Amino acid sequence: MVDISVIGSGYVGIVTGLGFAELGNRVIFVDIDTKKVEAINNSIPPIFEPHLEDLMKRNRKRYYATDNYDEAILNSQITFICVGTPSNHDGSINLEYVKSAAKNVGKVLEEKNRFHVVVVKSTVVPGTTEDVITPILEQNSDKEAFYDFGLAVNPEFLREGSAVEDFFNPDRIVVGAKDENSKNILSKLYSSFDCPKLFVDIKTAEMIKYTSNAFLATKISFANEIGNICKKLGIDAYEVFRGVGLDHRINPSFFRAGIGFGGSCFPKDVRALISKAEELGENPKILKSVMRLNEEQPLKLIYILKKYIPDLENKTIGILGLAFKPDTDDVRESRAIPIIKKLIEEGAKVVAYDPVANENFKEIFPDITYTTNVEEVLNAEAVLILTEWEEFERLDYTGKIIIDGRRIEKAKKEAKIYEGICW
Ligand code: UDX
Repeated sequence: MVDISVIGSGYVGIVTGLGFAELGNRVIFVDIDTKKVEAINNSIPPIFEPHLEDLMKRNRKRYYATDNYDEAILNSQITFICVGTPSNHDGSINLEYVKSAAKNVGKVLEEKNRFHVVVVKSTVVPGTTEDVITPILEQNSDKEAFYDFGLAVNPEFLREGSAVEDFFNPDRIVVGAKDENSKNILSKLYSSFDCPKLFVDIKTAEMIKYTSNAFLATKISFANEIGNICKKLGIDAYEVFRGVGLDHRINPSFFRAGIGFGGSCFPKDVRALISKAEELGENPKILKSVMRLNEEQPLKLIYILKKYIPDLENKTIGILGLAFKPDTDDVRESRAIPIIKKLIEEGAKVVAYDPVANENFKEIFPDITYTTNVEEVLNAEAVLILTEWEEFERLDYTGKIIIDGRRIEKAKKEAKIYEGICW
């Protein structure tokens, strides 16, 4: 049992902290947002994520939240930095929150006598922990990193919507460390996990995270590029990828062609890697194409729609799904955004339904119609499917015009007119 503090209660921080609590550790969450602090202390999940509420209720005695860094760091042995690293306008990562967390942690480390390990879980481009975070911690604590206190990197590979499951069943655990103390403390913390554990140097751990996400994003853009060719040839891309994925060197997962990838990680991480590569004098051609294809892909759905309704002016178009993927209310970089923007530009009236993401989407598009009655969407002149929510497999599509960006089999079978983006 270890005392852990977690800086930042976004989805990485909250899932990681509660995961460690479930394993028997004591966890203190630190957040500057007092509303989040209050919610956590009342066992209310600060984000929508399956199983989180159960974890919070079951482990209530093992965690609490505060906005006080001193209290959290002085009463813990390990601090996980889990704050966000959003994109700057040029695609590079914004380290503002990481720097501020490091500064605050450093100040408390100055007064701390016992050994403490700082673990960077926030996604940061290779070099950041050693070149940016280390000096901030050292200057503010007046101590030497890797001797007076430990410092390590431990990237997360949690998917939104299955983050709790991913925490307990990781494919691998990656730790980037330099000092033996940090290595030992982290290897003990993860001792109950039965999966490959890689101990590498700090920069390598940072790079593993970016390479994983860049590869998965590439796999999706590749699937979409092949899917677009299949579409022109009258071939079902899903059958192609089923056949291709059976080659064990390729693997069938993450091969779903569609309207592209969204979310808080893939677009941001690929852009950050492009930006870092350029800073180093490299021109990352594949990664740039991956992003370009992902920007163009959603608009293909409008192109297909216009085969049936050439003039969208004043036509009511229904939207099924706004979240960037199922089982989350997150709409960041959702492919629904460029699609709805284009529909509005073309003068269409948009009526949208998502089981949980309507409210979040309203912040981006306040003026379209949102409904909790899915029938209203199905009654539109044509319907676009943008997220593969399971409940969409139970709707009645008989007699409808459906343009599918995500592959809902029931719509494919029942609709009067049905076209998939790559099938
Ligand atoms: C991702 C990574 O999977 C995770 O390891 C990382 O740490 C955070 O980023 P997440 O953003 O939650 O997780 O979503 P993910 O399930 O990976 O999907 C990302 C996007 O790709 C979604 O918009 C999804 O619809 C799309 N996608 C995924 C496809 O278009 N095709 C696929 O085959 C798989």
